[in-house]
Amino acid sequence: MTILIAYASKHGSTQEIAERIAEKLQQMGKKAETRSVDARENPENYEALVVGSAIYYGSWLKEATEWVRQNQAVLAARPVWLFSSGPLGTEVQDAEPQPKEIAKFREILGPRDQRIFFGVLDHSRLSFAERDHHQDLWRP
Ligand SMILES: Cc1cc2nc3c(=O)[nH]c(=O)nc-3n(C[C@H](O)[C@H](O)[C@H](O)COP(=O)(O)O)c2cc1C
Repeated sequence: MTILIAYASKHGSTQEIAERIAEKLQQMGKKAETRSVDARENPENYEALVVGSAIYYGSWLKEATEWVRQNQAVLAARPVWLFSSGPLGTEVQDAEPQPKEIAKFREILGPRDQRIFFGVLDHSRLSFAERDHHQDLWRP
């Protein structure tokens, strides 16, 4: 049986993290596959799952939360680990827990663990609107 690493990524860095996780699992002798949540993979076909999303405005990407909700019964019956990619810099400074959905995910999935990875921001990959928002949010 295989481990699925399901991810949601807008600009590619969460996808890279998912691929690194898969590589590490393969080095440990496990079968691991990486899929975007957009592929609507059926988690029933996997023995264990790692699910991750980029954080934008404090939340997971909508498609990741939707995939979790749609598959919550299957996910809850299997070993699940969660990860998020977000904070820029070297410290998590927000007072509010991120992502906002984490308490709900803990309740409905009972994940074995959850991790936050520092994000990557390449300004050249952002749209103009995102650049504006980002400056408001991160460099007030
Ligand atoms: C407009 C915007 C809003 C963001 N909001 C958050 C946030 O609320 N919390 C956080 O930890 N990171 C935030 N980030 C940082 C991203 O989560 C980080 O760049 C992440 O690695 C992007 O992943 P992706 O390349 O897979 O889309 C934000 C970035 C942008 C551009």
